[in-house]
Amino acid sequence: MRLDRFLCKSTDLLRPEATALIHQGNVQVNGGVVINEAIQVHENNNITLNGVRLTPRPSRYIMLNKPLNTICSNVDEGYPSVFRYVEVERALDLHIAGRLDTDTTGLVLLTDDGRWSYNIITPKKACKKQYRVGLRDPIRDDVALRFEQGIQLQGEKSITRPAKLETINSKEVLLTITEGRFHQVKRMFAAVGNRVVSLHRQKVGEITLDIDVGQWRYLTEKEIMYFK
Ligand code: URA
Repeated sequence: MRLDRFLCKSTDLLRPEATALIHQGNVQVNGGVVINEAIQVHENNNITLNGVRLTPRPSRYIMLNKPLNTICSNVDEGYPSVFRYVEVERALDLHIAGRLDTDTTGLVLLTDDGRWSYNIITPKKACKKQYRVGLRDPIRDDVALRFEQGIQLQGEKSITRPAKLETINSKEVLLTITEGRFHQVKRMFAAVGNRVVSLHRQKVGEITLDIDVGQWRYLTEKEIMYFK
């Protein structure tokens, strides 16, 4: 992680305060003064502030059941930010591992561990995300095969990766995708002439949403390990 981030993770300093102390030469990494706040450091490095060794706080891993009409952003933007629901200290040190649209509900993962969230977000790892989808029109028989084969979304260079469609009833399905293109689920159904009227994420990898709307909890060790 960056040196300024390491300082914030091991003290009560805010980012600008940490940067100022680094620029003033108060921080040493493995015995040498470093004045570049952007250098990458490791938790095992010997990092001192005014001669005192710093130890970062352990990383945090949280699930939230995102309510309707909330926004996956650090600040309110017309709608309340999801961070309003997570009552932890320094909530804004956390970031969102895969955003949902304002009108999408369900599983949102928050962490301050960038490597962990990378494993969820990067297309390279093909992490499965399962959505419960409400549709305007009854699902047609050919859609599961078309999603399995991949479909061309407007303005995209490549077709979508194979996605799994399971029918709950004529207007409700489960869709599992392994990428996170912009408005992907809504655009996939639009591409087959249907329309999403409700969208709820219930699973990311092996992590299943199991709390009420608006509630949050820390992930278990086992859940954390899925993305280590
Ligand atoms: N796909 C969408 O269209 N919206 C979301 O919020 C998530 C996936």
